Amino acid sequence: MNNKDLINKRRIFGIISHPDAGKTTLTEKLLLHGGAIREAGTVRARKNSKFAKSDWMEIEKQRGISVTSSVMQFEYKDKVISIMDTPGHNDFGEDTYRILTSVDSAVMVIDAAKGIEVQTKKLFEVCSMRGIPIFTFINKLDREAMDPLDSTQELEDVLGIQSVAVTWPIGCGKEFEGVYDRLENQIHLFRKKQVIKLDEEGVFSTKLNGVISPGNLSSLRSAMDLLDGAGNEFDLELVKKGKLSPVFFGSALADFGVTEFLEHFLKMSPAPGIRKTTTGTISPTDEIFNGFIFKIQANMNPNHRDRLAFLRICSGKFERGMNVTLTRTGKQIKLSQSTHLMANDRETVDEAFAGDVIGIYDSGNFQIGDTLTDGKEKIFFEPLPTFPPELFSRVSAKNSLKGKNFQKGVEQLAQEGAIQVYKNEYNEVILGAVGVLQFEVFEYRLNNEYNVDIRMENMDFSVARWVKNEDINSLKRYQNSRCMLVFDHYERPVLLFTNQYALRSFQDRYEDIELIEALNVVDELESN
Ligand code: G4P
Repeated sequence: MNNKDLINKRRIFGIISHPDAGKTTLTEKLLLHGGAIREAGTVRARKNSKFAKSDWMEIEKQRGISVTSSVMQFEYKDKVISIMDTPGHNDFGEDTYRILTSVDSAVMVIDAAKGIEVQTKKLFEVCSMRGIPIFTFINKLDREAMDPLDSTQELEDVLGIQSVAVTWPIGCGKEFEGVYDRLENQIHLFRKKQVIKLDEEGVFSTKLNGVISPGNLSSLRSAMDLLDGAGNEFDLELVKKGKLSPVFFGSALADFGVTEFLEHFLKMSPAPGIRKTTTGTISPTDEIFNGFIFKIQANMNPNHRDRLAFLRICSGKFERGMNVTLTRTGKQIKLSQSTHLMANDRETVDEAFAGDVIGIYDSGNFQIGDTLTDGKEKIFFEPLPTFPPELFSRVSAKNSLKGKNFQKGVEQLAQEGAIQVYKNEYNEVILGAVGVLQFEVFEYRLNNEYNVDIRMENMDFSVARWVKNEDINSLKRYQNSRCMLVFDHYERPVLLFTNQYALRSFQDRYEDIELIEALNVVDELESN
């Protein structure tokens, strides 16, 4: 098989959802269909060990790899599918966002009764900013659910994305009878596990009378009447641009609607594509090997200080032992230790292609966002975005004699992207995070790796805004109990606000100060 065929077989995606919408259950069902796991419960067991902090660290230690974010690869028909695990719940952190920079598409799981929830919206925004295709799976139809027309309308109203229903539910809860596949024009019955192929009359076919209950049949027919007349048409080009989200309904728990979803998804989702660099673009079929690092996981075992860098291959072929250049420093590095990132089995990888994610052992050379190449050109992939922290803590070493170690630890963890670090005008260190686990890991690692006990004090801020074009001295004057001036890792001024209300009143008062949300801060400040 040539490289092009190998690449076209690959699909790499992340599942995004609010906790409890059914991401773990859906992942598990997909893995079962792909034969990657033999029994249900394997993925759940991982999630359900709702680790106490110490247990969590213990597991990290044993495996030397993050249990909360890895890749699950499996084959289904002729495709090689990688699901990037995006941690939610308590272990939600910047990693969750960054992982989405490595995927080619995303599956958004929504609880049919609850609709779009906060975390889904945040993760959606990261995907949408990168223009990646987003597929929607509306889950838990075996329970009472919102009207499906309202669920799809919500995608447009809350997320601002157009949608097209590929499957449509027939009832819900106790009355759930199955789904209608609009593209295949067939009905899948839930309890009878039967497929009914329809003719050109579609759901209006008399074949369905007596097969589907009258109430559900009439709702299905009027919904189709409406969608066929006024709904969006399916347009693969718009799907690939991330402008139209195909919608599927089902029940992950009952394993219903999952196969239909998977089959369509594999036809519609893109294979690894072209990636932008600072000097142009890179095609996955280019011979030169190129890839970027989107996550670094420190080894928690103090006897093995090496780290594991997660590398997304964007072009060429990876061969174990190859020499590459780290373009940021120009340093030549031999990639001799590489591994798969499967949840429960780690084997050495000897070769890998565009669309694969592999782990590389690192003794401290790499940073998040680094590009590796075996070509001569000094290329850089687009910088990974900075994500807006929402939690802040003031931190210091308990013992001031440990100040040097403390500074070193802070510096390295910031570089690794484990946490965001700011300083205020009194040179106090302030940490910014998107999830509390980031603070816990920070504390644990400073203690274990740098031998420093720290004092951490939560701060009452929840919003950060970068400031464009403003003189530092005047910014200092704006500080009050609801607003603090700090400086980020690159010495750029940032204002922290207690809440959205404090932010709005600041904006009303100082209309000409331009504040930037973090997502695109690098691009926006540099284009200035
Ligand atoms: P998450 O990863 O998005 O956080 O969600 P997860 O899959 O863990 O699902 C959260 C809860 O919702 C679980 O119940 C799960 O069984 C249930 N669930 C997932 N999909 C469906 C579905 O299609 N229908 C119904 N009725 N329930 C579903 P739990 O009680 O929290 O856990 P468990 O006791 O079942 O393990």
